[in-house]
Amino acid sequence: MASGVFLLFLLLSSSGSAPPPPPPRVSFLLNSADRPLVHFTAPGIYNTTTLLLSTDASTLYVGAKNAILSLNVSQHDIISLKNKVEWSPSPREINDCENKGKDPTVDCPNFVRVLQPLNSTHLYACGSHAYSPQDAYIEVDGLSLVKQRSGVKVRCPFNPFQRNTALSISGELFTATMSDFRGVRPTISRHFSKDGRPDVSQDSSVSLLEEPVFVGSALDSSERKLYFFFSEVGKEFSYTNELRVARVAQVCKDDVGGLRTLQKKWTSFAKASLLCQPPRQLPYSVLQDVFTLPPPEGSTASDTLFYGIFSSQWSSGSDSAVCVFRLQDVRSVFSGGYRSFDSQTHSWSPLQGKHTYLGQCGLEEFADPDLAQVKKSFLTSSAVQPVGNVPVLVSMGQSYSRVAAMTTQAVSGKQYTVLFLLTESGFLHKVVLSDRGPRLIEEIQVFAQVQQVKSIVLSSSKGVLYVGTCSGVTAVPVAHCASYRTCSQCVLARDPLCGWSRTKKICSRPSSGTSNMSQDVESGNVGRECQGQTGAAPRPGQDFLLRQRQNRKHDPSFTLH
Ligand SMILES: *[C@@H]1O[C@H](CO)[C@@H](O)[C@H](O)[C@H]1NC(C)=O
Ligand SMILES: *[C@@H]1O[C@H](CO)[C@@H](O)[C@H](O)[C@H]1NC(C)=O
Repeated sequence: MASGVFLLFLLLSSSGSAPPPPPPRVSFLLNSADRPLVHFTAPGIYNTTTLLLSTDASTLYVGAKNAILSLNVSQHDIISLKNKVEWSPSPREINDCENKGKDPTVDCPNFVRVLQPLNSTHLYACGSHAYSPQDAYIEVDGLSLVKQRSGVKVRCPFNPFQRNTALSISGELFTATMSDFRGVRPTISRHFSKDGRPDVSQDSSVSLLEEPVFVGSALDSSERKLYFFFSEVGKEFSYTNELRVARVAQVCKDDVGGLRTLQKKWTSFAKASLLCQPPRQLPYSVLQDVFTLPPPEGSTASDTLFYGIFSSQWSSGSDSAVCVFRLQDVRSVFSGGYRSFDSQTHSWSPLQGKHTYLGQCGLEEFADPDLAQVKKSFLTSSAVQPVGNVPVLVSMGQSYSRVAAMTTQAVSGKQYTVLFLLTESGFLHKVVLSDRGPRLIEEIQVFAQVQQVKSIVLSSSKGVLYVGTCSGVTAVPVAHCASYRTCSQCVLARDPLCGWSRTKKICSRPSSGTSNMSQDVESGNVGRECQGQTGAAPRPGQDFLLRQRQNRKHDPSFTLH
C-alpha cells in the first residue's frame, strides 16, 4: 500500500498482547497554524516548571526561577501575567552556595519546586534557594510573599535538578524529597500537622528507601492513605546491586507515631513493587511519571486508576511502556503478606505467622514488639500487577517522560480514555485507548530543545493541557477539530474528542446530547459515516498524508517507513 511509505509507525513490541496501533494520522510542528497553541513567555522569566492550577481553572500559579507568577488562563486564546513576586537568594547566600562548590548561575538561583494550596487565602511554596531550601507563604490575591524560616525541616530538594513530590491536604503538607545537601537522604514527611498532633517523618534507623527518584503522589481519601510513586534500587534482589524497581509507598495520613518505638515516625510506612512487563520481555522498571485518573462519577474510589510511564533499565535505545494500576489492587497488595528485613544478613525473607496490623492505620498505641516488627517489615510480598497484567502500550523508539489522562464520551455513548504522552524530544502524543488497542491520533510539538525539568498539568474540564518548560508555559487544547476540514478527515481521525456535525458541516467537539454527528473511533468507517456529505469523496486522509510528509522532513526523531 503506497500510503505505508509516508506513514510513521509507533512501533509496538510484536510479542506484547496489545496489538500495534496504526501510525499517527497527523503531526504538527511547533507553531503550526493548523494546531494553534498559546504560549506564555516574559522577559527575565525562566524555568517555569512548577505548575498549580486554581480549582476554578482560571488561574495558573507558576513556580519559576527566583519568582512566582500567577497567570490568567481564563481566556482560550491568550495567557496573561496577573502578578509576579520575586524570590531570590541574597548575594551573600549565592556566595555561600558558590563556596560550597556549586555553579552560581546553574545551581544557586532559587528554583521553586513546591507550590501547593494551604488554605483559602494562601499558597505554600518551597524553593531550592541557593542550595539551602526555603519556604514561603503566598497570599493569593495580591501574590505577596511571606518568607518562612524553615529551620531544620526540608520540604524540597537542595539540588534543583532532583525530583520531588508534595501534596497538601486540608492545610497539612506531605512531601517526598531528598533532604540533605548531597541529595542522598530521602525523606517522606508530614508538615503543618493539625489538631496539635506532631509532624511525622520516616524512620531513619533503617534504610526504608534506596536511592529513590520520586515522581508523584496521590491521596486515597476514603482509606485516609497517601501513596508516593518512585523508582529505587531493589535491594531484595541479591544478585545485583543496581537493579532499579518501580515502587509505590503508602503512609496513613493521620499517623502520629508510636509511644516509645517509632516516636513521631510513620507506623504505616510500607512499599510495594509496581510491575510493568510485556509477555516474554524484560520488565520496564524505571518509573518516569504517574497520573492519577479519578474514578468515573458514580463509582467508588477503588476504581481510581494510576497511569504510569516506565522506561527500561536494559534497553540501549529509547523505549517506554504505559501501565495502568487500579487503586483497589494497590490496596489489596498492602493488606496482604509482607517481607521482613534481617539487618544481620542484609536480606529479605517472607514473614511467617499472622501480622495483620502491618500496613494498617491507627497503630499508635500498639505494643513495642509489634512496632519493632513494623520497623523491619515494610516490603510487601506481592507486587502490584497492572490492569490486564500487561502494558496498555509499548513504544519502541520513544522515551515518554510525562503522562496525563482523561476520559471522554464518544458520540456512540462509549467512554474512551485519551492519553497525553510527552516525549523527551518535545512532542505530545495523543493516544486513544480503543477496543482494538492504543492508537496515536496526533502528535504536536510543544518545545524544540530537550528539557531537563518540565511538567504538564491537564484540566480535562477546560480541555487544556499546560506544559511548563525552562522558557515558558504552553497551553495545548486537547483537540483542535477544525483542522479536519472534511467529513472523511474528521471521521478518519478516529478522535473521540472530534465528530462531524452533519447539520453544520464542521468537525467539532461533541457535546453531551449531540445527535447527528459522524464519528467512528473504532474503525473510522468513512463510507458509512460520511455518506451524502460534501467533501467526503477523497481517498481516506490523502491530504493529511501529504502534509505529514512535508512536516516529517524536519523531524529526525522518527523513522520513516
Ligand atoms: C492561611 O495560612 C496563613 C499562613 O499560615 C495564615 O497567615 C492565614 O491567616 C491563613 N488563612 C486562613 C483563612 O486561615
Ligand atoms: C533553567 O533553565 C535553563 C535555560 O534557561 C536550563 O538550562 C536549566 O537547566 C534550567 N534549570 C532548572 C533547574 O530547571
